This record gives sequence, C-alpha cells and structure tokens, in this order.
Amino acid sequence: MPKTLTITRPDDWHLHLRDGDMLRGILPETARDFARAIIMPNLIPPVITATDAMAYRDRIFNALPKGADFTPLMTLYLTDTTDPSDVAAAHASGLITAVKLYPAGATTNSDSGVTDIAKVMPVLEKMAQIGLPLCVHGEVTDPSVDIFDREAVFIERVLAPLKAALPDLKVIMEHVTTSDGIDFIKETAHNLAGTITTHHLMINRNALLVGGIKPHYYCLPIAKRETHRQALVQAATSGDKRFFLGTDSAPHIDPLKENGCGCAGCFTATNTMSCLAHVFENAGKLDKLEDFASLHGPAYYGLEPNTATITLTKHNTAVEFPDKINTGDGPVTVFDPGFPLYWSTS
Ligand code: DOR
Ligand code: ZN
Repeated sequence: MPKTLTITRPDDWHLHLRDGDMLRGILPETARDFARAIIMPNLIPPVITATDAMAYRDRIFNALPKGADFTPLMTLYLTDTTDPSDVAAAHASGLITAVKLYPAGATTNSDSGVTDIAKVMPVLEKMAQIGLPLCVHGEVTDPSVDIFDREAVFIERVLAPLKAALPDLKVIMEHVTTSDGIDFIKETAHNLAGTITTHHLMINRNALLVGGIKPHYYCLPIAKRETHRQALVQAATSGDKRFFLGTDSAPHIDPLKENGCGCAGCFTATNTMSCLAHVFENAGKLDKLEDFASLHGPAYYGLEPNTATITLTKHNTAVEFPDKINTGDGPVTVFDPGFPLYWSTS
C-alpha cells in the first residue's frame, strides 16, 4: 500500500500571479492544490488603490480554469502617498486582506515602494486600528549593506522599531531566510508571524553558486548559508503557530532568468506540496505539514481553515513534473530541487 496523507486543503500566503498571458498560464498551477492565496501587488503598474485591486481580482477570476476552487486574497501596494482612507475603505468592503510593504528598490517591481517608513506611519496607524495586516518584504536597500545581511539589518533598523512603535499592527515578515528572522519572530510576543517559502526550505547559497550559477535558484531575499536553511526547517516543522507557508512562487520567462542580468524569483507553484512533503518527511515531521500549509495561516489572518482536503501519496518511483510551464508569454521553468521527489497530490 502506498503511504498517503490527507490534510486540509492548503493556502499560499505569498504568491505572484502576474497578469495577462502569464497569469492565464500559471494560475492553474496554484489553483490545483491551493484554495486561497495572498496575491502580491507588484505588477507594472502596481496595484495601489482599491480600484486597482478590484480590477485585478476580476482579471484573476476570469483567468481561472472552469470549476477551479480558488479565491485570491487581494493586497494593496504601499507607497509613500497611499491614502489611509482608501486602504480603510478597501478593508471595510472585504476587498483586501493585507497591505504590502516593499522598501523602494528592494526587489522586482518595487520602485514605487516605500522610501522611508516615517512617510507611511499614518497608514500603518490606521491599519493597526482596524486590524488590517501588513505583509513586509524585510530587506534594507542600503547599497553599503551586503546582500546576505540585508534581512538581519532590516530587522534591526526597521522591523524592531516598527514593532515597538505600533505593537497592535499585525505584521507578517515574509519569506524569512535567516535564523535572525526566525529568532526575532520567536522573541516577539504579539502580532508578528513569518512566512517561509518552499525553495528556502530546500536550497542554500551553495546550491545557487557552486559548480556554476543557477539562475532558477536566484530569488530575493537570496538563499543563505546552510545553518539558516536548517533554522527555517526547524521553525516550519515545529508546530509553532507563527510560521506558515508563503511560497513566493514568482514566475519569470526563461529568457529573463537565463540572462546576463537575471530576474529574481523561483517558480514553485507546480510542485510545492510535493517538495514540502519531502522536507517534512525528512525532518520526521510529516504530522506538522498540515499546521504549516493549511492551519497556521488562516488562524493568523483570522480566517477559517478550508473545509476541503487534499491527499498526498508517496510513490516508490520518482514523480515527474513538467520542466517548464509554457505560457502565452513564454516558458517558465519549474523549480527543481536537484533531487527526486516521491510525493504527489490529488
Ligand atoms: O525573488 C523574488 N521575486 N522576490 C521578490 O521579492 C519579488 C519576486 C518577483 O516579483 O519576481
Ligand atoms: Zn514575493
């Protein structure tokens, strides 16, 4: 008998769906296993206002395959000039689930992001008041800070002071990649949680750089050394309610990844649950996979878990995934952890 595991249908608390042909090409990959996802607003131009978010949500619904059971949870892209009352109205109407803070210039399409946290304090104060969560890309952009240190320095310079100034603001430190991030979340008593991506649980910076540069492992925050990856696995598999899945699945067409100046992003939507089952099984913590992928996220966001289930099956032979998803925009390479995967979902 093959080994099986049935869990509550998971959600993805950090996802890039893009737009147009790319959206149509990659949305089925997420909708297959996931019931909901927090949708990143870093389009060109970004999803800044409630009107933008409403139109984007419609485009996502229109791109869904027939019969798919998937709900996009919309976010607004915070800028220096975001209007607190627009944000509050979008929240009150049920349109948005969170607001996203990109430090200006930190990553893909973040040029319109926040240049100084002081400029957005009125919006953040409003959000704390109404209970609207803030998703944070936690890296400083100071050119003098080494790329591998940008998360740790962000905690010290921005996140810790923000938590101290606004303890009631519900914050999600997204795609935590360091033990510094894990420790900071564990030390903070209230209103701070962290998402962890699939790829950061599986690769370290050696995978990215040793034996030739692997552009499909390049993402931001960049993968760190092995001790950090181990801290992420420990946190994800620990059953601690403050850690949950946010894949940060971020498609770019191959010519933009395999390039002299390649884009950041790993596309993991297709095989995330298979990858996670592998990681949790290896850690001897398969019993904690449902917590991480299906239960802790909704609990933090104040939502009910999904009622449907998915079943993971472990096979004796490796499971095949497509190398690429061919979208109308071009091919997108599916994340390959570099070793065989044995779990499938149904
Ligand atoms: O690797 C990344 N890709 N990190 C981000 O923060 C943005 C994302 C994207 O949009 O491609
Ligand atoms: Zn992202």
